Amino acid sequence: MTEPGRGATVTLMKTRPILGIDIGGSGIKGAPVDLTAGELATDRFKLLTPSKSTPKNVAKVVAEVVDHFTDQVDADAPIGITVPAVVTHGVTRTAANIDPEWLDCEAEKLLADKLGRPVHLLNDADAAGVCEAQFGAAQNQSGLVIVTTLGTGIGTALLHNGVLIPNSEFGHIEIDGKDAETVASSGVRDKKGLSYKEWAPRLQKYYSTIEALFWPELFVVGGGVSRDSDKFLPRLDLRTPIVPAKHRNNAGIIGAAWLAAQTA
Ligand code: BGC
Repeated sequence: MTEPGRGATVTLMKTRPILGIDIGGSGIKGAPVDLTAGELATDRFKLLTPSKSTPKNVAKVVAEVVDHFTDQVDADAPIGITVPAVVTHGVTRTAANIDPEWLDCEAEKLLADKLGRPVHLLNDADAAGVCEAQFGAAQNQSGLVIVTTLGTGIGTALLHNGVLIPNSEFGHIEIDGKDAETVASSGVRDKKGLSYKEWAPRLQKYYSTIEALFWPELFVVGGGVSRDSDKFLPRLDLRTPIVPAKHRNNAGIIGAAWLAAQTA
């Protein structure tokens, strides 16, 4: 693409999309991400997470998702991948809702070896948080933002002046003697067949506990259920403003791709 400059012709390079992949409890979804626009470059492609979700089995499915986009991304470009686990130095440290084989697994290396290209691996909620800070509901927000993803579990991302403090894991805060996500996640709502009205008091308790402990400037709520946020967010009475994630369930894919490009 060209554009007239001052007496010369300036060539504007359009960067090729970077692949983002989100490994979840039920599905593994990916898409090339346009990092200039901060959105998916094409529709996402989703395959089921294998029922025995070991790192090796999951890596096989991730490779199929990558193959699906062969023509749309550079063969040597880095790939951003999220997992629902704490990740430090490329090693997955927890496995709340995935196979225990992920505990202390050199997962980033395993995936990079399988895919034959650089991989940046990070926690799923952290990826969603980074996306919302760069391109979404938390853009230009100063101070502390807490992005929560409501799904099978509760994921959290802590951002201070737009900078991620990784692996916050506030979904596991103990409230009334219970791991919070086992009471308030959207997965629990589904399992118990709770209406939004019935679920709201559980969310109320969760978010009031978090705001009393951390005093954020803003809560952003992501995960699949955020598409129905108008049915439950207005029921919450909080001091902190609370808004739905702009990129909803694609935030993880976008944030992972963005971080992979930054890290490369
Ligand atoms: C995990 C987190 C993850 C969240 C959302 C929790 O059970 O511990 O690492 O971010 O679920 O998937």
